[in-house]
Amino acid sequence: MICLTLLIEHPDIAPPLPIMYTQAMAHPKIPAKVITEINRQYNQELGSAHSYRALSLWCEDQNLKGFACHFDRQAAEEYTHAKKLGSHLLDRSVLPETGPIPAPKHTFKSLLEAVQHAQAMEQANTQGINVVYETALGVKDYPAQVLMHWFINEQVEEERWSTELVERVQGATCAGSLSDLDRHVERLLAERLLADEKEAGQE
Ligand SMILES: [Fe+2]
Ligand SMILES: [Fe+2]
Repeated sequence: MICLTLLIEHPDIAPPLPIMYTQAMAHPKIPAKVITEINRQYNQELGSAHSYRALSLWCEDQNLKGFACHFDRQAAEEYTHAKKLGSHLLDRSVLPETGPIPAPKHTFKSLLEAVQHAQAMEQANTQGINVVYETALGVKDYPAQVLMHWFINEQVEEERWSTELVERVQGATCAGSLSDLDRHVERLLAERLLADEKEAGQE
């Protein structure tokens, strides 16, 4: 424990209470366990971006343009997630380690298998994020805990849409219904893009 006292001497002014700094505050550092887990998750997000690229290409090859667009957008989003984690380490004077990214699955038996693959990936991402959060809680690393709140919320959205896609594909059993669903996804994305552009214009 380090104790700092401001030395002000005046007969009318009572001496201030000493300011107490813990050793951790005097030398703010990110615990090694948290660095390891954020770095692991940083690479996992990069891996997800890579996998979404492969999913997008497969869908495009199957003439499923809506799904291809959706997965392409997801690839970009996963990259921003990785960047967020990397920036957190950099902000705390730690250089992130970019590791090798395993080759993603790039062929699928059906669209159902493709969307189930995306769903499993999001579930694995949630688990990875929970591990970072639990580690940060365990060592009382408050900045990492706050950062992970954002990711925990984001995963609620990611798991919701990935489950919705699986359920919609499972429900598309009549002839031509997969193409209809693909066009619906394409329209939905175009609307979202327009809404995002409007929002960006208002900022
Ligand atoms: Fe992510
Ligand atoms: Fe998202």
